Amino acid sequence: MYILGLESSCDESAASIIQFNKNGKFKILSNIISSQINIHKKYGGVVPEIAAREHVINILPVIDESLDRANIDIKKISAIAVTVGPGLITSLITASETAKVFSCLFNIPIIPINHIEGHIYSNLIKNYKKIKFPNITLTVSGGHNLLILIKDHLNYKIIGQTLDDAAGEAFDKASKMLGLGYPGGPIISKIADKYLQETKNPQEIILPRPMLTSSNFNFSFSGLKTALLYQLQKDKKWKEKIPQYCYSFQKAVIEVLTKKTIKAAKKYNAKTIALAGGVSANKELKKEFEILIKKELPKVNFIFPPLEYTTDNATMIAMAGVYNFLKNKKAKINYKKLKVQSSLELKTK
Ligand code: KG4
Ligand code: ZN
Repeated sequence: MYILGLESSCDESAASIIQFNKNGKFKILSNIISSQINIHKKYGGVVPEIAAREHVINILPVIDESLDRANIDIKKISAIAVTVGPGLITSLITASETAKVFSCLFNIPIIPINHIEGHIYSNLIKNYKKIKFPNITLTVSGGHNLLILIKDHLNYKIIGQTLDDAAGEAFDKASKMLGLGYPGGPIISKIADKYLQETKNPQEIILPRPMLTSSNFNFSFSGLKTALLYQLQKDKKWKEKIPQYCYSFQKAVIEVLTKKTIKAAKKYNAKTIALAGGVSANKELKKEFEILIKKELPKVNFIFPPLEYTTDNATMIAMAGVYNFLKNKKAKINYKKLKVQSSLELKTK
């Protein structure tokens, strides 16, 4: 069987095809992404109207290429898994309406996928043998920052979330304040990594660790961003210290993300800690997780997606589609019932 995954929730138009059997054995046949980062860069963030127009232009060539690479005919597709939210409504609609056209023309059922569920399933791509339940997954990107308890496939409980900005959003805003450009995460982490490589004695500029000691598993990153702003306003020589600021900001974000996740893993007796979403591309974050888990939870597996599947892609949507196809009898719907929703919540049990 074959699933075609489609994704257009933000600024990536993507299509992917996964071949699978009823035992869950799978093979990724194609993973095509058309990213708009270079277009939005000059505006310092994603411009929804421009993103929407680009998706309309890009989606068909992307699907065409994914079928070509997989070397299969659209008529062989068993289901189309498509992101239905959360995301920018004007972006989401391109992949969903395109899915409807294929569904209607070729009589292919549709599997609506929550974008967060896609990020969760990005971890199945390379680590499916290592996943043990219960699992604590930290999904962290520009639009979301969630701690999820996963008791079994497709069985989610949100145990913590950000009360304001997501960590990726905080990286993006901090980068803008430091005059470094968009997207902020990769830029800040690159400068911080270089600083760490070149300096024997890194100088930390002390920034707050919001909600680190709170009794719940929620996050808040907007205060950290404001603290950085006040610090920059006070520091007349901040432009000479950009590497220190990048290192210190990243350190503060990492400390909160890692410590809260580990606390949750302890509370829920997790057998696996998983990281997902754009921020999971961060090298220092993964390194710190590895160090802390080895020290505090040595029996727990730590997994994260391969780099190319950390930011938005359609393979993760197709992967979530495969598991829904196999394990959820109600997953497949008629195209007439397909709806997108910008603030769609992850269905929990
Ligand atoms: O998952 P994603 O592509 O889109 C959303 O669903 O938001 O994630 C994009 C986010 C951006 O905020 C970007 O700054 C952040 O992920 N990001 C990083 C890194 N690479 C991407 N943040 C920290 N370190 C990185 N290396
Ligand atoms: Zn995402």
